[in-house]
Amino acid sequence: MGTALNGKLEGKVAVITGGASGIGQATAARFAEEGADVVVADLAPGDETVALVEKAGRRALYVRTDTTSEAECDALVDAAVAEFGRVDVGVASAGIATAAGPSNVQTRVASEGATNVVNLDVAAFQRVLDVNVIGVLQTDRALARQMLAQGDGGSIINIASSAAKIPLAGASPYCVSKAGVWMLTKVMALELARTGIRVNAVGPGYTATPMIDGIEDNEAAFASAMSITPMNRLGRPAEIAATCLHLASAESTFTTGQLLLPAGGQFTG
Ligand SMILES: NC(=O)c1ccc[n+]([C@@H]2O[C@H](COP(=O)([O-])OP(=O)(O)OC[C@H]3O[C@@H](n4cnc5c(N)ncnc54)[C@H](O)[C@@H]3O)[C@@H](O)[C@H]2O)c1
Repeated sequence: MGTALNGKLEGKVAVITGGASGIGQATAARFAEEGADVVVADLAPGDETVALVEKAGRRALYVRTDTTSEAECDALVDAAVAEFGRVDVGVASAGIATAAGPSNVQTRVASEGATNVVNLDVAAFQRVLDVNVIGVLQTDRALARQMLAQGDGGSIINIASSAAKIPLAGASPYCVSKAGVWMLTKVMALELARTGIRVNAVGPGYTATPMIDGIEDNEAAFASAMSITPMNRLGRPAEIAATCLHLASAESTFTTGQLLLPAGGQFTG
């Protein structure tokens, strides 16, 4: 059967939105290595992630999902249950940096005034909130409803960002959306605290994924990013996945409503 490293998620079923790329993909691979079957949800094709999960000896299901659609989030959880019988862990990693989609937020921040609040297009702001906040809300509650029906708890992990706490000039939609994810996490954690369903957030710092592809080639943007990153390097997706694993596993059963910050030393000052 599986090739679980430590078996921290042995026999568990995880649903991961944004699972086709970056942090979601690394989390899917790590969860599979720890013994979980994984449902990969994304707008983008999930073949690569499915292959990683299967390589780890676990079962994978890809469900094309637009998390801004309530019906598709509900259908995602239905598909997970149809295939695997239950859901134990959910990771909401689907997100965008700007309304243009996965793109280099820091490049945009560096292009002076491009998205300052006084100039920004409100529809573009709304689009980021739709994906990053409403998408997470719809994902979370579809997961929570299933976990409530199962009656034996679960773990929901929202990928926020260190930008939930750090204002970045020119990136108001993203920062506001991530602060929203963080507050949503805390409210849901309170509402579900007595059910055994834990809801936590992860706030990565700058992490080498397609979302910030090219940042190292943009001197101003990279310098700006490293100026608030004491470790002076980008995070690796696997390092963020390890934090998700902690929150998904039985190592964190007394932890809910928290924001963990794998962020290279941000917030030490
Ligand atoms: N990379 C970073 O530096 C960084 C830092 C902090 C937080 N984050 C957050 O981590 C999460 C994952 O981002 P990543 O860095 O892995 O980027 P990524 O672009 O590699 O992955 C994001 C995935 O989300 C998917 N997606 C976007 N909109 C979707 C929608 N409406 N429905 C379903 N899927 C959708 C994309 O197709 C993509 O596969 C995001 O929420 C992002 O904001 C990233």
